Amino acid sequence: MSGAGTAPDVRVFPDAQALSAAAAAWVADELRDSAAARSRASLVLSGGSTPQTMYELLATQFTDRIPWPDVHAFWSDERYVPHGDPLSNYRMARHALLDRVALPVEQVHPMPTHFADPHAAAHDYERTVTDFFSGAQPIFDVALLGIGADGHTASVFPGSAAITSARIALAVIAPAEPPSRLTLTLPIIAKARRIGVLVAGAGKKAALAAALSGRNPELPAAALALTASSLVWWVDRDAWPATPEEITW
Ligand code: 6PG
Repeated sequence: MSGAGTAPDVRVFPDAQALSAAAAAWVADELRDSAAARSRASLVLSGGSTPQTMYELLATQFTDRIPWPDVHAFWSDERYVPHGDPLSNYRMARHALLDRVALPVEQVHPMPTHFADPHAAAHDYERTVTDFFSGAQPIFDVALLGIGADGHTASVFPGSAAITSARIALAVIAPAEPPSRLTLTLPIIAKARRIGVLVAGAGKKAALAAALSGRNPELPAAALALTASSLVWWVDRDAWPATPEEITW
């Protein structure tokens, strides 16, 4: 269990391949358990490069463990580009995972990027999420995230309104390419039953240390660590601080 005052659940692996395999096994088990408990499992996918290997493993090595017909796929965030654009998180997840498993197409819920106004797209996605949860508080079963070197997660960047917003999803302008993004808000992400954050590479070491230390609550990854109901950090050796002294929680 994570949250203020409790030691975080950090699992360190020799390399990104090992962390991806361990995280994939964990995701498979959590999806299976969610479907067994509630007849369906909601999975929140993020983008970037880190999760791609894990997505591919979910579609291959671990696919038989997962009740795909009971799974619903959502996104934590999306670049506001056409779904066929190489920068699209939806496109990446389809190629790495969704086109390779028996998850019914009507259970794939991408963030829309065809509206002229991204704010209209955010409202549309809020309706999609609200309908899925029948108007009740959205509590996703499994949310998969990464972090950036600046401490962002999903498309919630330092100083963003999405850190504390009461909305389900927002259209934001990110200090990254492409700037126009849709994102679930941090309070919604934090309510997920199980959150897995994948962190690989030396470039993430400082952001991970800041997130775990609790000394930088203004960083989205740190705010998530402090507010999430259940969070596992899946870390490779390169992203883990050299000495435990660098991390105090
Ligand atoms: C995105 C992601 C974003 C990502 C981090 C890490 O749309 O880019 O949702 O939050 O997880 O930026 O990205 P890498 O895995 O590529 O380092």
